[in-house]
Amino acid sequence: MRMALKLARRGSRRNSSQPLIGAVAVSEERPAGYGYSSADSDKPAALAALEQAGAKAAGSALYTNIEPCLDAGDVEDAVSRLIAMQPSRVIIGGRLHSSDTAESMLSTKVTGRIRSAGIAVDLGLIEDECRELNSVYYKYAETGLPFVTVKFAASLDGQIATATGDSQWISSKPSLRLAHELRRDHDAVMVGIGTVILDDPQLTVRLVDGPSPLRVIVDGRLRIPLTAKVLSAEGPSRTFIATTDRADPERIKQLEELGITVRVLPRAVVARWVQTPPDGDLASETSELLPALVDLSALLKQLGEAGVGSILVEGGAGIITALLAGHKADRLVVAIAPKIIGRGIPAVGDLHIHRLSDAITFSAVKTRKLGNDIIFDGRFDL
Ligand SMILES: NC(=O)c1ccc[n+]([C@@H]2O[C@H](COP(=O)([O-])OP(=O)(O)OC[C@H]3O[C@@H](n4cnc5c(N)ncnc54)[C@H](OP(=O)(O)O)[C@@H]3O)[C@@H](O)[C@H]2O)c1
Repeated sequence: MRMALKLARRGSRRNSSQPLIGAVAVSEERPAGYGYSSADSDKPAALAALEQAGAKAAGSALYTNIEPCLDAGDVEDAVSRLIAMQPSRVIIGGRLHSSDTAESMLSTKVTGRIRSAGIAVDLGLIEDECRELNSVYYKYAETGLPFVTVKFAASLDGQIATATGDSQWISSKPSLRLAHELRRDHDAVMVGIGTVILDDPQLTVRLVDGPSPLRVIVDGRLRIPLTAKVLSAEGPSRTFIATTDRADPERIKQLEELGITVRVLPRAVVARWVQTPPDGDLASETSELLPALVDLSALLKQLGEAGVGSILVEGGAGIITALLAGHKADRLVVAIAPKIIGRGIPAVGDLHIHRLSDAITFSAVKTRKLGNDIIFDGRFDL
């Protein structure tokens, strides 16, 4: 299975929510064929491995880090071809916790068909490592929601801009390149309207090769200027604006005429802590409807339904804070620059955390130096 996982890491995918698959056909306890997913080929890893095994495919044990053939153009047809090559066992690494999403139902169907052809199926070998490699796929397949990566560049004292809103550029050039790589590797990139107004970003991939993601702007009142760069038709990138019923219908029409997708979503119901007694315990809580904040749960659900498997959230503080407060982020990437700003715009606002034991923590943390910066990359603990 480790060999299958190693092969999977060599592969490439057509979009972020397609799983990377590595497969090894083992005959008489020896590897006889290898395969891995490729964005340039429709041939799934499992079929490549069995074909390479040739006459030894029949009766072999096929090791694959995830259900076989999910990397095929036509999954049903690929499973039929796998069955026809008659391996005696299929051993699958990462187990999918089934749900009612289309991806989950498809993977259940794949194992069901293989089993009913009389081939033994074993699940769950080095499961955690296998799931980690395809974490975007698992999140999307099991919940129907996109995998959310939050990314920002901050000073040593945690500011993402000066008090006047100046943020370009806190981090060094290599970190900017990393930002473009992250854009390329996600299906969508998302920012709040504050960032559009202050920074006027393009949100396209320019510093590396690869496709630009869908641009998602969270703008509850449609304050976006018609001259904003994210609205320009330039390049292949598309733009989606999430707004609320506080938006001017005339403005919606103007934006739609520019070819922009505008969706009116529910307003966020935000929990407000109303009483903090002297011992610091939170005594009571109430919910109130704030004027024009977009309900981010509804937005993520809608993007998931539209086939967006992963989102890179690039700020600003308002959107980052709302996502963290709602436990909606999966991964955090921060470029920490060796600079001190003092009073500025902190990356994360008030999360109403009163005890250190309630602080947000991370696992699978990786750190490295990039240019003058330190890159933090970790998974939010649940
Ligand atoms: N260093 C970095 O990596 C980085 C990256 C991006 C941005 N920045 C900096 O961040 C600053 C902008 O931060 P920001 O907090 O003003 O901007 P933001 O997060 O980009 O936008 C916040 C605005 O989004 C709207 N919004 C709609 N629904 C929301 C929801 N559910 N939760 C939160 N906001 C929602 C609100 O607009 P309404 O007021 O219209 O309701 C809110 O004021 C700029 O100075 C920019 O330079 C830095």
